[in-house]
Parts: sequence; C-alpha cells; structure tokens
Amino acid sequence: MQKTPLALQRTYPTVDFQAIPSACFVLEEKRLRENLELIKFVQEESGAQIILALKGFAMFGAFPLIRKYLSGTASSGLYEARLGYEEFGGEVHCFSTAYFEDEFEDILRYSDHLSFNSLNQWERFKPRVQHASKKISCAIRINPEYAEVTTDLYNPCIPGSRLGQTAPHFGDQLPEGIEGLHFHTLCESDSYALERTLAAIEDRFGKLLHQAKWVNMGGGHLMTREGYDVAHLIRVLKQFQEKYDVKVILEPGAAIAWQTGYLVTTVQDIFDSQGIQAVIIDASISAHMPDCIEMPYKPKILGAYDAVPTATAYRIGGSTCLAGDYVGDYRFDRPLQIGNRLVFDDMMHYTMVKTTFFNGVRHPSLGIWHEDGSFELVRKFSYEDYRSKLS
Ligand SMILES: Cc1ncc(COP(=O)(O)O)c(C=O)c1O
Repeated sequence: MQKTPLALQRTYPTVDFQAIPSACFVLEEKRLRENLELIKFVQEESGAQIILALKGFAMFGAFPLIRKYLSGTASSGLYEARLGYEEFGGEVHCFSTAYFEDEFEDILRYSDHLSFNSLNQWERFKPRVQHASKKISCAIRINPEYAEVTTDLYNPCIPGSRLGQTAPHFGDQLPEGIEGLHFHTLCESDSYALERTLAAIEDRFGKLLHQAKWVNMGGGHLMTREGYDVAHLIRVLKQFQEKYDVKVILEPGAAIAWQTGYLVTTVQDIFDSQGIQAVIIDASISAHMPDCIEMPYKPKILGAYDAVPTATAYRIGGSTCLAGDYVGDYRFDRPLQIGNRLVFDDMMHYTMVKTTFFNGVRHPSLGIWHEDGSFELVRKFSYEDYRSKLS
C-alpha cells in the first residue's frame, strides 16, 4: 500500500522541537526571512507595494524582521490599524466593512490609506476625511462579481455579497475625493487566477481604472507557495501598472507567514474507541487551529502519514469537550505514546489571530526559533488572560 506522506516538501525544519515548552506556536525565523526575500524581490521587480495583512499574521515579535522588507500593514479596523501604527510603523492601510462613528477619529489618526466598503460609507465619512489634520488617500472597495474561490465562506462575490460595490453603482467618474480602488477576491491563489480576475475587473471597471491613482489588489496572492509562477506575477503587475498608470498595492497575509512555523503539542492520552486510537493533545483544533474545522482542511503533522486501512489509525483530537474538536486520522511509523511531541506544520497564518479561550483551555505560548539556533519564548499565557476577557 502506498503511503501518502504528510511531511514537509521544503527542507526539514531546523527547530529542536524537544527544546520547546509545549504547547507553543513556534515561528522559524529563517523561513520567514526566506519568504520575505522572495516578496521583496517581487516588489522590486514589479514596482508594486506589498504590505502585511494583519488579519492573517500579527505576531508582533516578528515585526522587526518583517519591517526590513515591507513598508507597512493592512488592517481591518481600529485595533489592527493601531497595532500596525504602534508596533510596525510605516504606512497603515485600512479597509473595514464598516467604520464606526465613535472610532473614526482614531482610524484617521492611525491610517494613511482608507478603503470604504460602500459608497454609502464614503459619503458618510467623507467630510471627516476631508477635514482631517493630515492627507488620507481614499478608495472604494469594488465587487467585480468574479471570483475563483469555490468555498462560499471565502468567496466575496457570492450573490448578494456584503463586500464591495458592484459596477452599476458607479458612474463614468470616480466619486469626488476618491483616488483608489480596492478589491479582494483571491484566496491562496496563483498569478493566473489574478490575471483572469483582472480581465473581469477591466471589463467592468475599465474607465475608473484609468482615473485611479492606486489599486489595492487585496490578499490571496500565495507567491511563497512552492510552484507559484513568480515571474508571471511580476509580468501581470507590471503590465497592469503601465496600462493604467496606477500604483498597485498587494496586501497578502498568508503568503508572508506561509510555512514559517509550527504548533508544537504533546500527547496527553491515548485510548481505544471502537478500533480507533483516540488521542488527546494539549491544544485544541477548534480553539487554536480553527481553520482546520472552518475551511475545512487536514493539517500536516511532521512525521505522520494519512491513515491507511491496514494500519493503526490515531484520531488526533483537542482538549476541549467539543465533539468535533479533532483533525482526522493519522498513522505513524512507531506507536504513539503519551508524552510524544506532535508538531503541526504551517501554523503561523490565521491561527494566533483567531484563537479563543473556549473551555478555558490553556492558550499555547508564542515563540521564535532564531537563525542562530536559540529559542525565544515571546509570550506565555495564564489564567489571568482567560479571565480578563470575561467579567
Ligand atoms: C481585504 C483583505 N485583504 C487582505 C486579506 C489577506 O488575504 P490572505 O491572507 O489570503 O493573503 C484578506 C483576507 O481575508 C482580506 O479580506
């Protein structure tokens, strides 16, 4: 029977997982730097600006490194804008589904670029933008009614979508005061999906593109995935910028932290459940790796294989009481034992930014495995962290 390896395709991690206190999200600095070097190359070759989408990755202990390569951050509202302003520096670009009256003063304080989700929101906040003490460049998010994403949960162009304004709502001119257009329709996509998306956008919004100073192409550009055609992306970006004489901004989250770290866990219990070996670890899929359930997808565990019918199947589950708090069945070359480390791969993006204290489970620590082989524990959580979000 052929095994389907779930091991890394990249070089083996340099991290000594036994040296990490469990449970812990561990960033491998070397891999982050390698991603950033590629992204910087894309910026330099294409002329596009690439900023970090904090919704995907906001581990600010890593910002000093990221700041050497990227000029700013993309935020989804006040807290991310403030984090970008205070912890990252550089430009703060903000897109929010709705800005709130009582937060807008602070939004203006922290942001350099603002994208509005509807013409309605723009009209409402335009006077405050125009009377702000500094110049803020504004855009409207457009809905091109074209997305290649097949999962509705991640598709901003489903019928009746609340994300962005469709073409019929615009006249021949950009609204007065608007300098940019913003769209986000990709998700872990390649450059060919971007090219087709741009064709749809040119078709519907061509006139407005000629008037815009900048176009923010959102996130979902997974340029750090093995096999991504980086040269093609650079060509597409260059052609677009030349054709419309616009500046292009990309705001990926996942691509920056793609395959740069792990969730290190430890087996706490193993017992037979109707022929399946039920395994409980010291972390939760639902609370700490929620995308595995939401998307859903089965993460890689280093050294594990997809379960095959003839082998012992270990069903790896989390420590909450949610029945669905498990990731699936895996096989190992040697029998698993209590105390073994289980290392989940590619656990930097959309993990720490989405975790909860559900069931009061202990939150994994956050750490960085530096290039010099040292480990830095950047954050340890306690009962007080759990308590502080309740009352
Ligand atoms: C408006 C916007 N920009 C950027 C991103 C980042 O996308 P990704 O992490 O897939 O690159 C998202 C993700 O949802 C988004 O909604």
